[in-house]
Amino acid sequence: MAARVAFGVSRVEFVADLIPRLRDALAAADYTVEGVSALLGTTAHEALHRNETTPGLRRTAGGSALETLTRLWLLQATASVDAVERALPGLLDPLCAAGILERSVGEVAARVDLRPYGADEGNLWVLSDLTPGLDGAPNRVDADHVLGISPAATSLAELTVREPVGSALDVGTGCGVQSLHLATHARRVVATDVNRRALWLAGLNAELNGIRTDSSTEGLELREGSLFEPVAGERFDLVVTNPPFVISPASGERLVYRDSGLPGDSVVEQIVRGLPHHLNPGGIGQVLANWAVVRDQPWDERLAGWLEGCDAWVVQREVLDPAAYVELWLRDAGVHGTPDYRRRYDTWLSWFEDQRVEAIGFGWINLRSRSGSRAGQDDHRLEQWRWEVEQPLGPEVTAHFARVDSLRDLADDALLATRPRLRADVEQETRGAPGAEDPGVIVLRQQRGLRRARQVDTVEAALAGACDGSLTVGQLLAALEQLLGPEVSATDRLAAVRGLVAEGFLDLA
Ligand SMILES: C[S@@+](CC[C@H](N)C(=O)[O-])C[C@H]1O[C@@H](n2cnc3c(N)ncnc32)[C@H](O)[C@@H]1O
Repeated sequence: MAARVAFGVSRVEFVADLIPRLRDALAAADYTVEGVSALLGTTAHEALHRNETTPGLRRTAGGSALETLTRLWLLQATASVDAVERALPGLLDPLCAAGILERSVGEVAARVDLRPYGADEGNLWVLSDLTPGLDGAPNRVDADHVLGISPAATSLAELTVREPVGSALDVGTGCGVQSLHLATHARRVVATDVNRRALWLAGLNAELNGIRTDSSTEGLELREGSLFEPVAGERFDLVVTNPPFVISPASGERLVYRDSGLPGDSVVEQIVRGLPHHLNPGGIGQVLANWAVVRDQPWDERLAGWLEGCDAWVVQREVLDPAAYVELWLRDAGVHGTPDYRRRYDTWLSWFEDQRVEAIGFGWINLRSRSGSRAGQDDHRLEQWRWEVEQPLGPEVTAHFARVDSLRDLADDALLATRPRLRADVEQETRGAPGAEDPGVIVLRQQRGLRRARQVDTVEAALAGACDGSLTVGQLLAALEQLLGPEVSATDRLAAVRGLVAEGFLDLA
């Protein structure tokens, strides 16, 4: 059953303004990304990225408020009661009562993580469960562990289209990191999760970052429930989700932040099939996902079968073989090196074999709903692009769907009459034998956005080079035909022009 919940204040309501007062204390101590970076210095900071705290502890022994907060939360060290009282005046007892800190005789320790998070929108603070595995400690976490800012979370945040919208939905909000971003450009955000602890932390994070949680027309609303169940019948302008997408036999223990409890990649399939029903016309849905690559079926053909009633742009960013995948996630669960490791590894691999899973793809699924969309008219582009892209990629998602629109109803005659312009960041690379008259390979490469590369022949390279917005495609092709001979027939070349526009090499004026 979906239920609307107000977790923002439930466990701390007996202390008025606790979270705003915490925010003030964090700001007063300069507990910000810049403040902490300057305090730790590069070596200790990089060590912490490797989960090593010793260099950081050596840099934070002075007893200032910033040092105390950094030791407590980033380095998971204890601090004296006196030092904490100085850093968080009047807040120690209420933070202990709220489950954020814990106190024993003369010492204080963190019960949850609280760290500054640098976003384009300015400094944010994020509460989550403590990072496991510091200094080689076991990597084990509880089943309801709430992830902090993970690389996957950052990847989705950078992919998200950041245009002003009326409403946004964050499915599987966890600590609420996507919602914190969404609240900067969506008037109203609904965030869902099945994990009550996640909703509690997401509510605190909203409050800590000054986002309203007490209104149904603006700010953040938290709802408990699975996938789209809490938003049945509702539509949004933007939907984002970094779901629990780990592909496993769905047997044994379940870590809710990564395991959906559903077999294989069916959680992603359900999301992709369900998401268009929750988009307003023109709305965009963005999903970070894993998918199974099964024997005798191309990955893109399988995913294309899930797409219906919307345009889609799917990018496969990475492919892992089953063994590498199982190792990755058994290590993540802290099972590596335990007596059970080999058995679980073997069980998981056998299950992949039974399911005919040959590899696991990781990537982005972007969906866009259209008003008046008719079956068969939707544009589905599924491609693999493993190379580095320009971040944030959100603007490229908008540009992609704009290009789809510009080409959708453009007949060949109309295309011939357009005056395209080569995008300013496109460069040409040639390869071939030294001294050869013609290059063996010509590649056009974008320096921005997805940083696509496209192999072209000499005619397409000449055409692209001549596209400065002054001549029509028809004029350009006629000129090339005169120059290079009749094999440059305009009709044969229109598909290439469409390709160059679709991939963003040429802008249609
Ligand atoms: C990978 S975490 C993502 C958290 C956060 N949105 C982020 O980007 O880092 C997946 C989240 O989905 C939640 N979750 C698991 N199963 C779910 C379900 N059936 N419906 C909704 N949320 C679910 C988990 O509790 C967890 O918070």
